[in-house]
This record gives sequence, C-alpha cells and structure tokens, in this order.
Amino acid sequence: MNQQTVTITDNRTGKTMNCPIKTGTEGASVIDGQALYKELGLFTLDPAFLTTASCESKITFIDGEKGILLYRGYPIEQLAEHSSYPEVCYLLLYGELPTSDQMEDFKHTVCQHTLLHEGLVNFYKGFRHDAHPMAMLVGVVGALSGYYPDAMDISNPEHCNKSAIRLIAKMPTIAANIHKYLIGQAYVYPRNDISYVSNFMQMMFAVPSETYQFNEIANRALEVMLILHADHEQNASTSTVRLAGSSQAHPFSCVAGGIATLWGPAHGGANEAVIRLLQEIKTPKNIPEYIRRFKDKNDPMKLMGFGHRVYKNYDPRAKIIRKICHNLLQELGTQDQPLFEVALELEKIALSDDYFIERKLYPNVDFYSGLILKALGIPLNMFTVIFAVARSVGWIAQWMEMTEDANLKIGRPRQLYIGNKRRDYVPVAKR
Ligand code: ACO
Repeated sequence: MNQQTVTITDNRTGKTMNCPIKTGTEGASVIDGQALYKELGLFTLDPAFLTTASCESKITFIDGEKGILLYRGYPIEQLAEHSSYPEVCYLLLYGELPTSDQMEDFKHTVCQHTLLHEGLVNFYKGFRHDAHPMAMLVGVVGALSGYYPDAMDISNPEHCNKSAIRLIAKMPTIAANIHKYLIGQAYVYPRNDISYVSNFMQMMFAVPSETYQFNEIANRALEVMLILHADHEQNASTSTVRLAGSSQAHPFSCVAGGIATLWGPAHGGANEAVIRLLQEIKTPKNIPEYIRRFKDKNDPMKLMGFGHRVYKNYDPRAKIIRKICHNLLQELGTQDQPLFEVALELEKIALSDDYFIERKLYPNVDFYSGLILKALGIPLNMFTVIFAVARSVGWIAQWMEMTEDANLKIGRPRQLYIGNKRRDYVPVAKR
C-alpha cells in the first residue's frame, strides 16, 4: 500500500513536499514533519503544543472527545474497580499485568527501598517551618540524585529499573515526612508488612504513642486516587520529565522538574484551588454570583476543577472519583458534606450553562479529588504532593520508555524570532 501523505506547497516558491502520515493503534494520526525544514526551510509554530505529538508512546491513551483513558490498553474504570496501585505501577512500567508471582516479587522489591538515607532525612531541617510542601518535595526529590550516582547511566536498563523502583518506593516516605515535619511530629518509618497504601496512611497519620487504626474504606479511596492519577500521557509535567531526561540528566532531577511543573494551579495545584473555591462559595445560594464571575472575561476567577486541554467531555476519572467521594463522605460522616453539596450543585448549574456547554468545559479529576483528600485528613497544602506520589510512576515509566529508544535525541524546540534585527552596539555615552 502506498504511504499516505499530506502535500505541503510553499506558495512563495512553488516548492512541494509530501509529509508521511503516521497512524498509531488508537487516536488521531500525525503528520511526520521531520523533513520539513530540510525540504522547505520551514519550522512549524505550535505554542503550548496544541497540535503537536512530541513522541511515540505505548503507555497511556486518551480520547478527549469521548472521555476515554486507557493504561496499556486497559480502561481506567476497570483498573479503578479491580486493581491495586502497585499492580498499576507494574503495568505502566512493564506493559503487562503481572502474574501473582511477578506481583509478589515486585511488591517485595519495592518494600526493600522504602527507607530514606538518614542524610536525606536531615535535609528536611533546612526548610522553614511554613515552607510549601511542594517546595520541599521539589528539593528533596532533586536531592535524591546526590544519593544514587549509579542511576546516571541511562544506557544500563538495570540502573533505569532500579531508579523506577526507588522512586515508587520512596515517594510515600518523602511525602509523609514532609507532612510530619510541617506539623512538628516525629517521622513514622515505613512498614514492609502491610500494603503500599496502608503503609502510606500510617506514615502520614500514625503517632509513636498510639496504635494506628486502619480504615479500609479510607485506604481504598486513597488507592483509587493513586490509580487514577498514575499517568496521563504527555501532560505538562510528564513532558518536562521527558525533555529534561532527553539530555541524559539524572532521573531524580528530571522528576524534580516534573514536580515543579505539577505544582501550578493550571495543573496539579487545581485540587487545592477547588477546595478554597468551595469554601469561599460556602452555600449553594451563592453559586449564581460565582457563575457570573467565572464567565466574566474581566474577572480572573475561573471555575477550578473544570476544563481540560484534552478532555472535551466528562473526564472519566472525575466520574469514578465523584462516586468514591460520595461513599467516603457518607462512611466517615465528616463535616465536609456541605462542601460536597456545594460541589454537586455547582457542577449541575455549570453543566447546564451555555458558556460551559459551548466551550465543552466539564469537571476534571480535580473537581472531586480535593474533597476526598480533605475527608482523609490530608491538609490542603499537601494535596498536590499526594498527586505527585501517584504520578511518580507515570513520570518514571515515560522516562524509561524514552531511554529505551535507540534513536533518543536531546529535545530542542525551535522558535519564530520576533525580536530586533542585527544592530550595532552603542557605547553608553551615546545612548
Ligand atoms: N472556568 C471558566 N472558563 C474557563 C475555564 C474554567 N475553568 N476553563 C477554560 N475556560 C474558558 C477560557 O476562558 C476560554 O474562553 P474563551 O474561548 O472565551 O477565551 C475557553 O474556556 C477555552 O479555555 P482555554 O484556557 O483555552 O483551554 P486550555 O485547554 O488552554 O486550558 C485548563 C485548560 C488550563 C485546564 C483550563 O480549563 C483551566 O484553567 N481550568 C481550571 C484549572 C484546572 O482545573 N486545572 C486542572 C487541569 S486537570 C489536571 O491538571 C489534573
């Protein structure tokens, strides 16, 4: 069969070239424009990568129009219902669901890496008592690079795999230590005899003077949260990790870059912003006034937790999380129920408003995730840290996939220069 192509003609010169069309297993095909500059002397301009595929990947697929999310081909709904976070980690890293022996091995290996070097634990003391947890996370994960110099050799698959295991194993310990440091409590060391999620919960909430009481419903809610946030193809933070990794930098430094990107309110910081917004709205009767503000171009306020660069439909993760949120709040009987009522009403009103309908703005995963984290007792400023714990597997799986590419090249976007033309230096006395 003939290669399908798109013909591009430069009307200035009449020169023509055929760009191959590449088709993947799912989703939109792409124009392979790699020869464009060589043939026509042209770059493409695509600020914010609205229509640019930056790589080929086998890990995660999103159909934003239909609201579909697949990890290695498996629908997120099925994984959220039947799987565990460590199993999803295995799937994302190695491409297949594990057998029970493979799963046991994987869990055992992860358990062997949950502790932090005591030197790294000392690092925490350098932070101000009121540092933002994400600032601490960027710093501590970046500092991990100094403890594992062997991970620098990205041509060695064993080293790469070890970095992935270390990251997945240590992220809950790093995150829980941040929480404990900021509230002035003793660090709780990891336990290797319980599940990944139970261990994370006890490191966050146990105190040395009492026996920690596990709550299965709370544990499952956190497990599903971690599964839903585990990967999301080439989003801003993942693209940061890939771009940094393309220079063959240390994997933990690359992940620190991803964490910095996740911090912003347009990305992972949105769940914190949703809670602040719901608290500000306070009661359903104030919603119409806020809806007016969200639509006002002169008002910077946005309906946080709504809208997504890729989903132009209900985010499939938001549907799952909405149900979990409902069950968890009922089960725990927390004082967060009124906030949930405001969220439900806000969603209902927004989804029937022309402004949101025309722009295809639907709830994203962050609309309800903050309510779950709050009900679990996690402080607002720790929300994005929990997101980062979950996403660490996605970042490192994407990084591993990139390092396995025999044709790996350093990422180097180009630009359309709109500054001054060449001009001569003017001595200061003559300016
Ligand atoms: N509230 C009000 N208006 C909105 C919202 C919102 N949440 N989101 C988008 N719009 C409007 C824009 O003002 C724009 O209107 P216009 O066409 O009249 O100018 C239109 O919808 C398109 O929006 P863009 O900003 O171009 O969409 P983009 O894809 O660039 O942005 C983003 C997506 C950043 C997520 C945006 O929807 C947003 O800021 N949402 C709130 C923050 C949020 O929830 N972020 C979490 C994202 S999910 C994640 O990271 C896990």
